[in-house]
Amino acid sequence: MAAASGLVFALLALQACASVSSLLSLPRTYPKISACVNEPLAYSCENTTAIKNTCCSPTPGGLVLQTQFWDTYTGLEHKGQLLPKDIWTVHGLWPDNCDGSFGQYCDLSRQYDPDPSPRVLPDGTPVPPYNGPGVDTFVAEFGRFNLLDFMEKYWVSQGSPNSDFWGHEHATCTSTFDVACYGPYYQKNQDVVDFFDAVVRAYKMYPTWEILAASGILPSNKTTYSLTQLQTALKAQTGSIPYLGCGSNGTVLQEVWYFHHVLGTEQFGHFKTVDSTTASTCSSTAGIHYYERTPTSEREVRLLP
Ligand SMILES: *[C@@H]1O[C@H](CO)[C@@H](O)[C@H](O)[C@H]1NC(C)=O
Ligand SMILES: *[C@@H]1O[C@H](CO)[C@@H](O)[C@H](O)[C@H]1NC(C)=O
Ligand SMILES: *[C@@H]1O[C@H](CO)[C@@H](O)[C@H](O)[C@H]1NC(C)=O
Repeated sequence: MAAASGLVFALLALQACASVSSLLSLPRTYPKISACVNEPLAYSCENTTAIKNTCCSPTPGGLVLQTQFWDTYTGLEHKGQLLPKDIWTVHGLWPDNCDGSFGQYCDLSRQYDPDPSPRVLPDGTPVPPYNGPGVDTFVAEFGRFNLLDFMEKYWVSQGSPNSDFWGHEHATCTSTFDVACYGPYYQKNQDVVDFFDAVVRAYKMYPTWEILAASGILPSNKTTYSLTQLQTALKAQTGSIPYLGCGSNGTVLQEVWYFHHVLGTEQFGHFKTVDSTTASTCSSTAGIHYYERTPTSEREVRLLP
């Protein structure tokens, strides 16, 4: 009874929110892509002719990686920071310069990482730690509570607050998020919110837990899986072999990176999977553990908004 009336109350509250939001008009965060309408189309990393308008295709970071984690705990359970049950978490959306090299902290005027890694760039430039309001407040300022809610549930950090982790996953090395791409009406931090939307869009293409489960690969503290089994299962649904990262000398599965070439912008464009250009750190001979999580480290996130 109490649960039922609670649900009714929640639904009424939702309706109230919906009618309030229909009165509001939230600012758009998408870039101004009208300049790209007549640009030649090519998948990133596949045509060596320099791209004229770098707002229209990610360059030089045209090999785009959607990365995810399988953690078994967060370390901040006591603060309610829990993992989404039966779901791999978001790590980020990374640019690679088509050759294994990549940029980091490419625009220090948009540096929002409180704990930069590395602290000094390869050319000797120091990366000052950010100590302003968290990037979560940027998302809230644009009224994007739906995005914030998704990020809190699916983009979960281990050992640090979620928003510190999000601040590390900057878009400053991906040309289609450059401030200039937003046109004359750019609003501060629009690019950050736009980037988070792009990360979520790419992440949603890969329900890794489900893809592995489809081949009978479930988290288990009793059995192990071979690297080939894991790669075959992922290729069966994505067409390419992603990178798999393992800890403990290659025996504990921890992460996956899905590689792509992108047609058009990273925000709107088409992502085509390609094989990983990085060798797996998982053992090709030993059994690999895909551990069950500590039950008190997870929660069901699909139940309520
Ligand atoms: C590469 O792009 C250039 C300029 O857009 C175009 O003229 C050329 O045909 C493209 N080459 C290939 C192999 O697609
Ligand atoms: C890691 O694996 C290698 C190769 O299987 C083995 O030689 C080495 O002893 C292992 N190291 C540890 C710390 O288990
Ligand atoms: C499974 O093993 C992992 C790694 O040792 C551990 O953290 C986790 O709590 C275990 N889960 C269950 C359900 O036993």
